Amino acid sequence: MPSAPLATAWSRVAAERARLADCRIVDLLAADPQRVARYSFDVAGLHADLSKHRLDEPARAALLALADAAELPRWRSALFAGEAINNSEGRPALHTALRDPDPAPIVVNGQDVKPTVAAMHRQIADIAEAVRAGSRTGATGQRFTRVVNLGIGGSYWGPALVLEALHGCATPDIEVDFISSVDPTPLQRLLARCDPARTLFLVSSKSFGTTETLYNYQAARTFMQAQLGDGADRHFIAITANPDKARGLGFADDAIVTFPDWVGGRYSVWSAIGLPAAIGIGAARFRELLDGAAAMDRHFQEAPAERNLPLLLGLLDVWYASFWGFGSRALLPYDQALRLLPTYVQQLAMESGGKGVDRDGQPVGYPTCPVVWGGNGNDGEHTFYQLLHQGPATIPTEFLVCTQDDAGLPGHRRRLVAQCLAQAEALLTGVEVPGNPHARCPGNRPSTTFLLPALTPPILGALLACHEHRTFTSAMVWRINPFDQFGVELGKRLASRIEQELGGASPHGAHDASTSTLLAACRLRLGG
Ligand code: F6P
Repeated sequence: MPSAPLATAWSRVAAERARLADCRIVDLLAADPQRVARYSFDVAGLHADLSKHRLDEPARAALLALADAAELPRWRSALFAGEAINNSEGRPALHTALRDPDPAPIVVNGQDVKPTVAAMHRQIADIAEAVRAGSRTGATGQRFTRVVNLGIGGSYWGPALVLEALHGCATPDIEVDFISSVDPTPLQRLLARCDPARTLFLVSSKSFGTTETLYNYQAARTFMQAQLGDGADRHFIAITANPDKARGLGFADDAIVTFPDWVGGRYSVWSAIGLPAAIGIGAARFRELLDGAAAMDRHFQEAPAERNLPLLLGLLDVWYASFWGFGSRALLPYDQALRLLPTYVQQLAMESGGKGVDRDGQPVGYPTCPVVWGGNGNDGEHTFYQLLHQGPATIPTEFLVCTQDDAGLPGHRRRLVAQCLAQAEALLTGVEVPGNPHARCPGNRPSTTFLLPALTPPILGALLACHEHRTFTSAMVWRINPFDQFGVELGKRLASRIEQELGGASPHGAHDASTSTLLAACRLRLGG
C-alpha cells in the first residue's frame, strides 16, 4: 500500500495537473525569460532542452516531492550499493557496477563484485583485440572477417545499437551481423554468403535457454560442422550467465564468457553481451562507452533533484502517463545511426515499466509505462507526423539530433537540424488557418530536444545510461519492480506446446476455438 506521505504527494501532483489543464506552453515560455535556462541541461556531453513541456515551477516542485515521498533517494542508493532491489527474483540489478571506475568494493552475497567485473572486461578486451588483430583465428588458421551474434532481446539490441551508432569508428575489416529471430530466412541468407573458415559465431544468451537463440545456434553449428568438422568448435563462443547450460550444449570452458546473473538482459550491453560491439569498435572505445555511462551514473547520484536530468525525465514520464493520461511517447532521432534507439528504449522502458502490480504484488490503480515508439525522425515526417500534429491524442515527443557537421555532403546536416528544430516548434505553436479547420494544428504538444555535439562512445554511453536511470526513476515512483519480466513467459510456454501440436503431437489440452482453428489451418500448410 502506498504510504500516507506518498498519497498526499500524489494528490498534490494531481492538483497541479488540474491547475495546468488549460496551460499553453508558449505562454509559459513567454512569461519567464529564464525558463529555457531553467529547464535546459548539459550533462556528460548531452544538451537537453525540457522547456517545451506542460510544466512550471510549482508542478516541478510537486513532482520532486512525489519522488521524495516514493523514497527515490533511498532506492537509488540501494541500486548502486547492490541491494537485492529486484525483489521478485531476489537479486540486485547492478549494471552500474559494470562501468564504475571506482575500485571501492560492492559486496553481493559476501563477495566483492568488482574483481569479477574487471576479469570479465579483461576477457572481453582480450577476445576483441585478438579477433581484430587476427591472432585469434579459425580452424584453418585464417583470421575472422565476419562475426555473427546469435541472440535476441537484450542479447541483441544493445550491441547492435552501439555498433550502428558508432559505425564511424568500427573496423572495416570485420563485418558484424546479428541474427535474432527464429525466422529461418535471415540465418539462411547469412549462411549462404559467409565463408565458414573466416566466420566466428557469438552465442549470446543470459539464460542460454532462449529458444530462438538455441535454434539458430544448432543450425549454425550443423552448418559449420559440415564445412569444418571438429574444427567448428573454434568458431563458437558462448556469452552467458548460465555456463552450465552452455557446457551442456558442448561448449568447452575456454569458449565460454560469463557475466553475473545480477545483470538484467536489457541492461546488459555493458557486460560480455557487448562483445560484438567491442570487436567492432575495439576495446579502448568500448571502455569509453562505459566511461560515458559512468559519468551519467555520477550525475544521477550526485546532482540535486531539480538539476538531475534522468530524474526529471523519469518524472515527466510519470506526469504525462499517470496524471495526463497520455498513452504513448515518441522517440525521434534525426540520425540514421540512432535508428535502433527507439527499439532499444522500447525494451528498456516497456519490459521494465509495463507492470500492473506494485513491488508487493498489489494492483497499482494508475497508468504506468506508456507505449514507447518512434523511428528516424526525418522519415517519420513523411509517415506518422501527421498524427503527432493533428491527431486527437497528445503524444509527448523526444527529438535527438547531432550538431557536428561532418561536412560529408554540403548543407545536409544543416537542413537535418533545421527540420528537427522546426518540428518541435510546429508541435509547440501549432497553426490557425481561418476558415479551414482541416489545416488547423492545435499545437501545445510537449517535446524534449536533445542536442548531441557528436556521436562518440562516451556520449552514446551517457545517453543510454540516462534512459536507464529515467526508467528506474519512473518505476520507483510507480512503486513497481523494473527488473523482472514475467509477462513474457506465458507466450513462450504456449508456443512450445503449439510447436509440438504443429508437428503432429495430439493436443495437450483444449485451446480456445480461434486458436484451434488457426492451428489446424497452419498444420495443413506446414504438412504437420
Ligand atoms: O523474453 C524476454 C527476454 O527474457 C528478455 O528479457 C531478454 O533480453 C531476452 O529474452 C533474451 O534472453 P536471453 O539473453 O536469456 O537469451
